[in-house]
Amino acid sequence: MARTPTIILHLLVTLIVCILSSARTSSSSASSSDVDGFLSCLSADIPPSLIYTPANNNFSSVLVSSVRNLRYYVTPDTTMSRPLVIVAATEPAHVQTTVVCGRRHSVHIRTRSGGHDYEGLSYASVDPHRHFAVLDLAALRAIHVDASRAEAWVGSGATLGELYYAAAAANSTFGFPAGNCPTVGVGGHLSGGGFGALSRKYGLSADNVLDAVVVDAEGRLLNRSTMGKDLFWAIRGGGGESFGVVVSWKVRLVPVTETVTVFSIRRLRNESAVDLITKWQAIAPALPRDLYLRVLVQNQQANFVALFLGRCGSLVDTMRGHFPDLGMTEPDCQEMSWVKSTVFFNYGRADLPAEVLLNRSSNPYYYLKVKSDHVQEAMPGHAWESIWSNWFEKPEAALLMLDPYGGRMGSISPSATPFPHRNYLYQLQFYSVWYENGTAALEKRMSWVRGVYEDLTPYVSKNPRAVYVNYRDLDLGTNELEEGGNVTSYAKARVWGEKYFKANFKRLAAVKSKVDPHDFFRNEQSIPPLPAAAK
Ligand code: FDA
Repeated sequence: MARTPTIILHLLVTLIVCILSSARTSSSSASSSDVDGFLSCLSADIPPSLIYTPANNNFSSVLVSSVRNLRYYVTPDTTMSRPLVIVAATEPAHVQTTVVCGRRHSVHIRTRSGGHDYEGLSYASVDPHRHFAVLDLAALRAIHVDASRAEAWVGSGATLGELYYAAAAANSTFGFPAGNCPTVGVGGHLSGGGFGALSRKYGLSADNVLDAVVVDAEGRLLNRSTMGKDLFWAIRGGGGESFGVVVSWKVRLVPVTETVTVFSIRRLRNESAVDLITKWQAIAPALPRDLYLRVLVQNQQANFVALFLGRCGSLVDTMRGHFPDLGMTEPDCQEMSWVKSTVFFNYGRADLPAEVLLNRSSNPYYYLKVKSDHVQEAMPGHAWESIWSNWFEKPEAALLMLDPYGGRMGSISPSATPFPHRNYLYQLQFYSVWYENGTAALEKRMSWVRGVYEDLTPYVSKNPRAVYVNYRDLDLGTNELEEGGNVTSYAKARVWGEKYFKANFKRLAAVKSKVDPHDFFRNEQSIPPLPAAAK
């Protein structure tokens, strides 16, 4: 791994955010005869060239093909579990066969679309006793745009960048509300919610899903009308991995202006950064819906980054009216097409062609740990000052991202989809990226992230701490089996589950009981079936 001076790496992280129980667990052990049976069952319907076992020369390269986080870079020498088999499906029938064979031979499945899970759950497990196959959907990534209806069918294996590019290629005034990182997979993103620069205007990705094709635990291929309301509700924010395999999604493309405006304004801590962030907390969620203004805090500065659906002149007026203290003026503006703004949000520059959105290549080169939270009442200036002096002066300090809600986000009922966190001012992420190998670096970075999370307790969401499931965090808790049973414990899962889903957790568990009562689709934080006693 190249050794780049720390300061440059920190800057890179700021600009290129993306390119960047010990208790009894619900482990499942597949015997070698189960695995042999599974393989022979698969081979009846799936070409051998799409089935990889560790004996295959290409196994490792297929395994790492979408791995982002070196913490979960599993090799035969690590204590983590890696898959027994990888099935690289190229058609929905392969997904059906894999599910049917998995159930028949007791081999659990982890579905992987873009591989961006913060805790690697789509392809690895820190529990060395877990045995599973990976169903890789990267090849199921066709995108069909129906421009006359402003809708698209998109395969789960497509990336957000591919979707943005295809939407804009069909019509430059089509956009889609989803995350700021173009290599994130549609499958995991939409099934977990999907927040991004258009969410204040149009809600989450999941709020814009019109239909979906799912393979359920029986291996049936279902669409919106055949899967029923409950399952359709659950897969739009409840995390797809617990309920089936979502093969493709029909989404609503949303209108964006022909020209949008972005800016990125840096303010140093010893200038006005603390005062500006303190004010930003109330201002940003109340801005007009056409304006998204996030803050990235790192080292000794705060970077205010905006997307505005309109021209520069109108943005300057809006900023003067709502946030004069930032001092935004016309020279700060960069006008461009919406699709180019998605490039800007990832790469921090506007001179790259939109085709970079089609780059799927993944070469894991950094370690990642993220914790996240939500804020309901603006934190006082002295709290920001003390966070900065206690935490952000340390060499291992991470990037802090503040993303405003309000607008459409706040006008959707918390029970309309499994994502319940609609009424907060903003979400925050402690996003630690590092490049050094070894336990010392790992412990230092992890304890920074955990320490600042603890320190913020008085100021952030409470009862429970509210966490967005797409920002997966295994510190919140992991699943265990029911005493003497072979399904995940509901009582234990509530510990982490209500942080992600609040009251929707129970409804998700009820859906799980209906569609996967035997708990075939499971991982460390999958939704458990709701026990009869809890109904
Ligand atoms: P991956 O393939 O790892 O799947 C994630 C989970 O979903 C796994 O449990 C997996 O089994 C399950 N799953 C995947 N495909 C499925 C399918 N087809 N059917 C059923 N289950 C399926 N989020 C956000 O809201 N806004 C943002 O701006 C960003 N930015 C961002 C940047 C970077 C660098 C990373 C690493 C992550 C983000 N995220 C994000 C978080 C991202 O939305 C989240 O990790 C998604 O689950 C990733 O989806 P993938 O398909 O890539 O992941």
